[in-house]
Amino acid sequence: MRDKLQNIKNEALALIIAGADQAEKDRLRVHYLGKKGVLAEIAKEFPSLASDEKADVGELFNDVKQAITNALGTVQAESGGAALPSVDVTLPGVKPPLGHLHPVTKAIAEISSIFERIGFTRVRYPEVDWDWYAFESLNMPKGHPARDEWETFFVDAPDHSKLGKVVLTPHTSNGQVREMERVKATPPIRMVNIAKCYRRQSDVSHTVMFHQFEGLVIDEGINITHLKGTIDHFVKQFFGPQRKSRLRPYHFQFTEPSFEVDVTCDICNGRGCKLCKEGWLELGGAGMVHPNVLKAGKIDSAKYSGFAFGWGVERTYMMKSGIKIDDLRLLYSNDIRFLTQF
Ligand code: PHE
Repeated sequence: MRDKLQNIKNEALALIIAGADQAEKDRLRVHYLGKKGVLAEIAKEFPSLASDEKADVGELFNDVKQAITNALGTVQAESGGAALPSVDVTLPGVKPPLGHLHPVTKAIAEISSIFERIGFTRVRYPEVDWDWYAFESLNMPKGHPARDEWETFFVDAPDHSKLGKVVLTPHTSNGQVREMERVKATPPIRMVNIAKCYRRQSDVSHTVMFHQFEGLVIDEGINITHLKGTIDHFVKQFFGPQRKSRLRPYHFQFTEPSFEVDVTCDICNGRGCKLCKEGWLELGGAGMVHPNVLKAGKIDSAKYSGFAFGWGVERTYMMKSGIKIDDLRLLYSNDIRFLTQF
């Protein structure tokens, strides 16, 4: 009986879908659903079924009947027939779920626009580059201990006779000398280079792949006040007018003097709490471009000077007010439950 019903359903649906005109459909309706139709005949066999079978077969019977009725109805509606189910057009619709850009993509767009509005040009330089651009041109000769800080991945590829080994860029500073070359050693330069970087480090505050944004300004008469003014402007725009920045003396081979930039903690507003260092959070490095770097980019250091800074996008984003991420790796876990929060 079950097989019979199943076959009736298959056959009827095939005929309805194939059936072209209204007359054929009317005929099928009478044939299957009519008083003396196929289903009515089958129903007559019901009393002879074992009682435990009845419920099961009854359910299938109703299902088959419903499917045939629906199919006749839909086909009729499609061909402009009168049997359209009534629709209340005033009911609110069902909204499809909306996606959004990844928080890091949004942060990158916001950072670029803050700098573009004050005359910086967004550039991008290779994320796989020669040792020369990543280290040597930045006043870090081969074997210099300062290189250790950059936990670098080396690519298994032939060395270049002048530019050295191939590396996954551990910072965006490789764009500095590349930008000097792009402008053919004729400043002014006002660039912001935002790109992926890679380091052999993975913990709550480090992912192997991350992003940095690197500012570089070179012109006549550029001094530390320009650096401080630019940083203050960025901090107020990105974090909010209540946040302050400070420069703390530091050391980088490619800047002299060098600084680390701190921003006031958004939790305690600079008073000092468990999450910060006496009210300050560390943003990243900055400084005045070292004359040896200008020389590597063939820029006359007697005439021109400049400043540079390079900070992690993810890190900077995490310090924004109201955003609390206790493990930076979550950003790249592709977990929709995490991402929909932003
Ligand atoms: N490249 C440095 C880093 O990765 C940051 C930096 C950029 C410092 C530019 C000074 C000037 O930590």
